[in-house]
Amino acid sequence: MFQTNQVYPIIWHNDSVSLIDQTRLPNEYAFVEISRSEDMAVAIKTMIVRGAPAIGVAAAYGIYLGAREIHTDNRDEFLQDLENVAQMLRSTRPTAVNLFWAISRMMKVAYETIGTVDEIKKALFQTAQAINAEDLQTCQDIGNNGLKALPTQPGQLTLLTHCNAGALATAGYGTALGVVRSAWREGRLARLFADETRPRLQGAKLTAWECVQEGIPVTVITDSMAAHCMKQGLIHAVVVGADRIAANGDTANKIGTYSLALVSKAHNIPFFVAAPLSTVDFDLADGSQIPIEERHPGEIYQIGDTILTPDGVEFYNPAFDVTPAELITAIITENGVFAPSELKQQEARKAA
Ligand code: MRU
Repeated sequence: MFQTNQVYPIIWHNDSVSLIDQTRLPNEYAFVEISRSEDMAVAIKTMIVRGAPAIGVAAAYGIYLGAREIHTDNRDEFLQDLENVAQMLRSTRPTAVNLFWAISRMMKVAYETIGTVDEIKKALFQTAQAINAEDLQTCQDIGNNGLKALPTQPGQLTLLTHCNAGALATAGYGTALGVVRSAWREGRLARLFADETRPRLQGAKLTAWECVQEGIPVTVITDSMAAHCMKQGLIHAVVVGADRIAANGDTANKIGTYSLALVSKAHNIPFFVAAPLSTVDFDLADGSQIPIEERHPGEIYQIGDTILTPDGVEFYNPAFDVTPAELITAIITENGVFAPSELKQQEARKAA
């Protein structure tokens, strides 16, 4: 399953987790070694590792690292201490449900493994590795399913994406960028347009970097240029990732996704969400309940050492928005391509 020319942001190596430091790309390709659960929580919070499925995988390893740090043979004491680790990891980022999904799956294994504390630790390690490997396979399936959904413009297809839903945001391959990758490898894609994605510039920095690695022709635009490009006929379809999808298909993704969906509708351009079923929160009937992370205003008023705004102004920095289901043409998952209204039928097929 692992290929040498692919990007893997999270690798278990030498008894610790190697993370690609996504805060340093594209200028530096560097790894951070994480061997303590607390450091994993910091890495998620500071976005060394980011993207919904990737933070799920990272949190799963974080639970295992935390388990390794607990020195007791008493099962109840162990589980109590592990709950504190889980709580620390849950408090890192609120919107991407994959984080909570992965932690719940790990904790279920901890509670349900019959045996010694050492046996629980072993089961936790195996589960973290399984979550990592499954995500990789899931992304490849999403990529292939995406091919059924995309418009047919053989060799001429142009897509637009927002933020980074690529290999870096997953265990590898990507969700939205997985679809782009599959279209490229099949010879169907001519070019990807990548929104720069203010304020953190995941599109300009990370999506563009991944495209360069793979040789995919990429044009970076600022977020405000999308409608103009659509009007000029430059975009055939939009494909984005998701941080949390409610049962009715309302989708939280990087801030700016909602406006992109609105302008896609205005130009009659299909708007696809690509995400694993682990991103669907069937407990939420609609998107109004999705918690939206607010980040530090410095992400808006400062670039590098340069302050952009005068003193005395206020800032609002929501990291995500919610796109209503009616603006979404289809949701591309590992199980197939669904209209938002068909998603509910997949609840039973979602992994534990
Ligand atoms: O704040 P980020 O960079 O973690 O936000 C990432 C996104 O919004 C992605 O589009 C989403 O997580 C899907 S990643 C496959």
